[in-house]
Parts: sequence; structure tokens; C-alpha cells
Amino acid sequence: MRNVNQHTITDAVIARLADTPDPRLKQIMSSLVRHLHDFAREVQLTEDEWMAGIEFLTATGHQCDAKRQEFILLSDTLGLSMLTVAMNNDKPAGCTESTVFGPFHVPGAPEYDHGDDIANGAKGVPCAVHCTVKSLDGKPIANAKIEVWQADAEGLYDVQRPDLQGAQARGVLRSAVDGSCFFNTIVAEAYPIPTDGPVGRMLKATQRHPWRPAHLHFMVTAPGYETLITHVFREGDPYLDSDAVFGVRQSLVAPWETLPDGHFRLDYDFVLHQAK
Ligand code: BEZ
Ligand code: FE
Repeated sequence: MRNVNQHTITDAVIARLADTPDPRLKQIMSSLVRHLHDFAREVQLTEDEWMAGIEFLTATGHQCDAKRQEFILLSDTLGLSMLTVAMNNDKPAGCTESTVFGPFHVPGAPEYDHGDDIANGAKGVPCAVHCTVKSLDGKPIANAKIEVWQADAEGLYDVQRPDLQGAQARGVLRSAVDGSCFFNTIVAEAYPIPTDGPVGRMLKATQRHPWRPAHLHFMVTAPGYETLITHVFREGDPYLDSDAVFGVRQSLVAPWETLPDGHFRLDYDFVLHQAK
């Protein structure tokens, strides 16, 4: 193959993939090449712009380690994460909707009993959380694993505080025989996603704000059911309609009741989808 030009190069690259043994990989690679080339043709990409793109992706890679994942942040802010979640979690009405995982989940968080304070010293206004885990036909799901994590009053997750020893505002609980679970924590507040890297520069250049509406993260796992990765958002938050990562679903917005002592209480019921 010689003398490829801007009109023939796409088919030439795709032809080179003909012997890919894995049919799914072949499909994904061929489609990726076609869309990338079409993108470059559509915007008439210059060589300087191509290099700027390479430098942007290089900087994104340099911001990735065990505690920071700038590529997930990029995927989130481009709506790719939420598109993938939406395509892969089409559940019957009544099941709790899924949303983005985000970069701040930590496997192996501490286990707590009902009534414990998972804040573990994180700053914020106290908030009691009461939830249940049920199936679509209303049966309680006992012993479901409920992982919860959230930012503190300053908008930071514990993993964003390099000097912190141990987990704060994250933990693992198990539902009781009636599917219920109760824990104490701090109230969730809106916070900006990290803006000190290339994704922050992209948001600034496109005049987008980095804020996420206040939310608690949950991952709920139980045998025989699909794992639920979701948030509960705080009703009335000013960023519900402009979440930087497009994660808000109306069914996940709940009232966080203010109690007479100024503390908060959240009630939320999770409905799991039976595994296929
Ligand atoms: C989060 O909610 O923790 C999150 C989600 C996407 C990007 C950054 C943070
Ligand atoms: Fe979050």
C-alpha cells in the first residue's frame, strides 16, 4: 500500500486490521479509526492542533497514579463515563438508577456497625442516614454490602489529603434482615472536581465550571443482584442541573431533612435489579 491520501488512508488502516483474531477488538479498533479520521477531516485538524492534543493527553497521563486518575476525570467531563453507564444499566422502572463511579472509591474501606459514625473525624455538620435495600418486588435484601463514600465540608475526599492516616467519611455496612441500614456521617456539600491538571485547563478554556452537586456515593452488592453504583443527591443543590460530570438523575435526588438541632437526616431506599 503506497501513496495513501486523505481519502484512502482510513480504509487502508482498517484493512490492516483484517487479521485481528478477536472479533470484538476488530470491531472496536475499526470503528475507532474511522471516527478518529472523520473527526480530523471534519475539523480540518492542523499539525499544531494535533501536537497540542498529544501534549494534552501526555499531561493527562502524567496526572495518573494510585490516588489521582486524570483520564477518568477526562472521560467524566466529556460525558463518556455517563454515556457508558447509561448504555449498560438500562433497568426496569422502579430499580435504583446507576450513575458515575468517580475516581475516589477505595476498596477495603473500614467495616462499621449500624449507628456508627463513619465520618471518623471528617469535618462537617452531622447527618444520620437511614436506608433500605430491597428487590423490585419489594422483598428486603439482608446482608447486602453497602459501601459509602463522600467528600467532607471542605469538598475533599480523605484520599485527597496526603497527611491523613486512615479512612474518613467512607465505610462498609451490611443491611439487616429487614433490608435496613443506619449510619451517622456528615452532610454532603457541593464540591469542585480537581482543576489543577489538564482537565481543569480544558474546563477553563471552555468556560465550564467544575462543580458537582452535593451527593453521597453508594455501591451496593448482594448475591443474585446486579451491583448498584450510584449517588444520592441533595435536593435544592444549585448544581443539580449543571453537574460537571453529567451524573444527576432525578430519581436519585432526595430531601435531606434539617432536624431541630441543626443536624440532618437522609432517608433513601435502594431497589436492586436481579442479576441476569
Ligand atoms: C466524584 O463524585 O467523586 C467524582 C466523579 C467524577 C469526577 C470527579 C469526582
Ligand atoms: Fe463525589
